[in-house]
Amino acid sequence: MLEGQVALITGASSGIGRATAEAFAREGASVAVNYCKNRSGAEQAVETIRKIGREAVAVKADVTQSAEVKQMMKTVLQKWGRIDILVNNAGDLLARRTLVDMTEEYWDQVMDLNLKSVFLCVEAIWRHMAERKSGCIINVASIAGRNGGGLGAAAYSAAKGGMITYTKALAKELAPYGIRVNAINPGVIATPYHERYSPPEVFQKFIAAIPMGRAGTSEEIADVIVFLASPAARYMTGEAVEVNGGMLMD
Ligand code: NAI
Repeated sequence: MLEGQVALITGASSGIGRATAEAFAREGASVAVNYCKNRSGAEQAVETIRKIGREAVAVKADVTQSAEVKQMMKTVLQKWGRIDILVNNAGDLLARRTLVDMTEEYWDQVMDLNLKSVFLCVEAIWRHMAERKSGCIINVASIAGRNGGGLGAAAYSAAKGGMITYTKALAKELAPYGIRVNAINPGVIATPYHERYSPPEVFQKFIAAIPMGRAGTSEEIADVIVFLASPAARYMTGEAVEVNGGMLMD
């Protein structure tokens, strides 16, 4: 479904990003695996992709830092000459905080990582896509951006809600240039994210609210991202696709 495409996936050293990198490769894409701190995870993803028979490169960049984002795009463009697909996947809750322990510094960190990073990555690549009259951007938002998230996810859910709205605004701005922009809203997905922030009793409460009775897997999110990136979704833009086992239905 992605034969010959070049994709850059942010935060691809673990979880959903890594599963997406590997799924893209299985569908025929060359993949740039962005990482910030987890170099060994990124290198493992690259190794897996090469075993699949596709090209891959690990690219270090903190997506909250404009200069590092620009350098990342330059590195990928130097290697393959183009970027067809950008998946803005890097994101994190950083901590569970309610108003009781909310600080301005934490609020800004969450916004920078989950919202500003999307602007920085898109800003650094859209002209290149526009020149080629072709491009596809997929933003990994969250069910939290629709329903306010679990307790302590206020800043995160506000950022993800902003990401969903920004996706729609970008889709309108970039459609004339042949660039599609969509979002995906995962529900509760079993990744290192919940290992960090959801103790077993909290995680079980989440599961109890899912009609399908289980958490999703990174691969189940990756499969939908592959669809959004593929020609099968060529008439879709500005959409935020819910993938949550029935936890939230529109
Ligand atoms: P994860 O923790 O495995 O993945 C997050 C990735 O972002 C990591 O690879 C991390 O290194 C990277 N990252 C963090 N800060 C970064 C930075 N400054 N620069 C570059 N990379 C950075 O967890 P998961 O679950 O795979 O998360 C992926 C995305 O999915 C995130 O945006 C998360 O908010 C979103 N999501 C996850 C859900 C879940 O239930 N696991 C539900 C809804 C959305």
